[in-house]
Amino acid sequence: MEGVNLKPESLQELIETLHILFATDKVNIEDVQAAMENYESNEDDWEKYAVFEHYRYTRNLVDEGNGRFDLMVLCWSEGQGSSIHSHSDAHCFMKVLDGTLKESTFAWPEESKKKNAMTQLASNTYERDQVAYINDSKGLHRVENPSHSDRAASLHLYSPPFQSCQCFDQRTGKSNTSMVTFWSKYGERTPYKPSRSTSVCPEPEPENN
Ligand SMILES: [Fe+2]
Repeated sequence: MEGVNLKPESLQELIETLHILFATDKVNIEDVQAAMENYESNEDDWEKYAVFEHYRYTRNLVDEGNGRFDLMVLCWSEGQGSSIHSHSDAHCFMKVLDGTLKESTFAWPEESKKKNAMTQLASNTYERDQVAYINDSKGLHRVENPSHSDRAASLHLYSPPFQSCQCFDQRTGKSNTSMVTFWSKYGERTPYKPSRSTSVCPEPEPENN
């Protein structure tokens, strides 16, 4: 898109760029990826959103993109990971802000082959400032912080926003619908609601990203 700043120098500039890139229904994936890659991660920009918990990774809302996308910081303590999950027909961009993240991609389970182990397609490692992209047509993925000594943080954009997705058992391919939740919004802890929204996915993990 002409005239759009694809080299944002701060998270705030990146958000302004994303609002323009998502102003219409036609999303230019390359431009979004370029803008997210070109923003050089700066802790001063995002540390107010970064909350680490020892028992699970956290999702922390940064911007609601005028209803067209959700932008969030995910915080991964040492060794934490997601389940294998889908993305509810949304675009999913993931930029590493700090540390390293490993993404394992999987094929959708075949309807006729229930209870078969899922097929892994690839495994990729992303370092600081690199951006991964996935959507349901490309498959499913699991994201994890492979380090047992360092935390990781990542910036995720989902468009359109979604409230639930499927998470899968790697050994059987069986899936459950999981609501997605925020640990914090705009730097403020989200009030705890003892409802379905925190515990749809099988133990131990609500999902997800
Ligand atoms: Fe994901």
